[in-house]
Amino acid sequence: MVSTYSCLLFAILMVSMSMICRACENGKIYDNTITEKDISDVIEAHNMYRATIALGKLKTQPPAEDMQKMSWDNELSKTAHYWANQCMFKHNGDRGRYVGENIYIVWYGGPHTERTHNFTEAITSWYEEHVYYNYKTVEEEDFNDPTTQTGHYTQVMWANTNRVGCGFSSYYQTENQQDEVLYVCNYAPTGNYLGQYPYIIGKPDCKAHGLSNSDLDGLCKQE
Ligand SMILES: *[C@@H]1O[C@H](CO)[C@@H](O)[C@H](O)[C@H]1NC(C)=O
Repeated sequence: MVSTYSCLLFAILMVSMSMICRACENGKIYDNTITEKDISDVIEAHNMYRATIALGKLKTQPPAEDMQKMSWDNELSKTAHYWANQCMFKHNGDRGRYVGENIYIVWYGGPHTERTHNFTEAITSWYEEHVYYNYKTVEEEDFNDPTTQTGHYTQVMWANTNRVGCGFSSYYQTENQQDEVLYVCNYAPTGNYLGQYPYIIGKPDCKAHGLSNSDLDGLCKQE
């Protein structure tokens, strides 16, 4: 908080030096524009993986009674876009108390060329954490080990989370001298409450949870 405040003060007092507070301090962004294709990739990947789990099509995971369909949310996307443009592979502490966040980065070796982005790849990598996940409540330790963490997976599968908005930036990291593509997705209502399960086990049964069937098999919507 102190740093945000002092940065703000600095900007107010010395407008000409507000460059110091600019985004992507150690990088040059060459693409950060979300396309219609990105939006449909994000929504389709989330809902496809959610339906896969809800319908019990992945044999290692139990099915879900109460998994809601996700829709795109422009406000969440704005927050994610802003954060992706900081070019930092860490979480946004100011995203809002009831907003979840998944992040993903690809580092490219070799000389600079313009790298394309692929949201499906990011979301698939979060989904693939299922190999380390046995249905259980979410606990702090689930976020500790970068190679076996399951927190991205449980956010993707959080039954009550029904809105998602993402942003990305493709930039040349001037310090490390490499291209990087950083993805940020924000979720609401947030998932990953400690001590809670991501969803309730059972065949999809929207009515039992005060929900109705969405147009996607296995996924519910609010009435
Ligand atoms: C994006 O990533 C997905 C998942 O890895 C892959 O199936 C797809 O072919 C990729 N799309 C492009 C345009 O490379």
